[in-house]
Amino acid sequence: MKKVIAIYPGSFDPLTNGHLDLIERGSKIFDELVVAILRNPEKQALFSLAERKEMMTAMTERWENVSVDTFDGLMVDYAVSVNASAVLRGIRAISDYEYELQMALMNRKLAPNLETVFMMPAEAYSYLSSRLVREIAQLGGSINGLVPDLVQQRLREKMDPAHKFENLEAPRKSRGKKR
Ligand code: PNS
Repeated sequence: MKKVIAIYPGSFDPLTNGHLDLIERGSKIFDELVVAILRNPEKQALFSLAERKEMMTAMTERWENVSVDTFDGLMVDYAVSVNASAVLRGIRAISDYEYELQMALMNRKLAPNLETVFMMPAEAYSYLSSRLVREIAQLGGSINGLVPDLVQQRLREKMDPAHKFENLEAPRKSRGKKR
């Protein structure tokens, strides 16, 4: 039987628990799901493409049929290049719908055989977005429960690079105490 390969494209700057919720749902209905991170030279991202890929790979390794890749150019061209027949997109609220519908119909015009599949994340994530996470982290607010611990840690390091060194210092200090 034909395997259904889907891609889940996005910026993922950074990935959130809402994205992971959608990936888990997608992994249950598609044979293979490729999380495709957009490289967009025109948009200044907080995390580099390599950082986004590394975090996404770490957070999705628990799902055997999920892989992570990066792409640039047209999303439909990338989808064809990996033999995908579907594109997964999340819809949180009705406000997402207009933009997503426009994009899905334009993509259908470009690649008529590629289907866009919309899924809803858990209600708990319906107000969550990468943009808000970045803003809250930049302003020193709590993003507990909104992103995985790894992303929270990386955000802290971005906001305060000294934090990285504090963590590296910690084991050395405790070794010193034992002696
Ligand atoms: O997470 P985002 O930023 O909402 O994802 C948007 C994304 C990456 C799916 C969209 O911008 C995209 O597909 N970009 C690639 C360029 C492209 O194909 N543009 C035509 C869209 S109709």
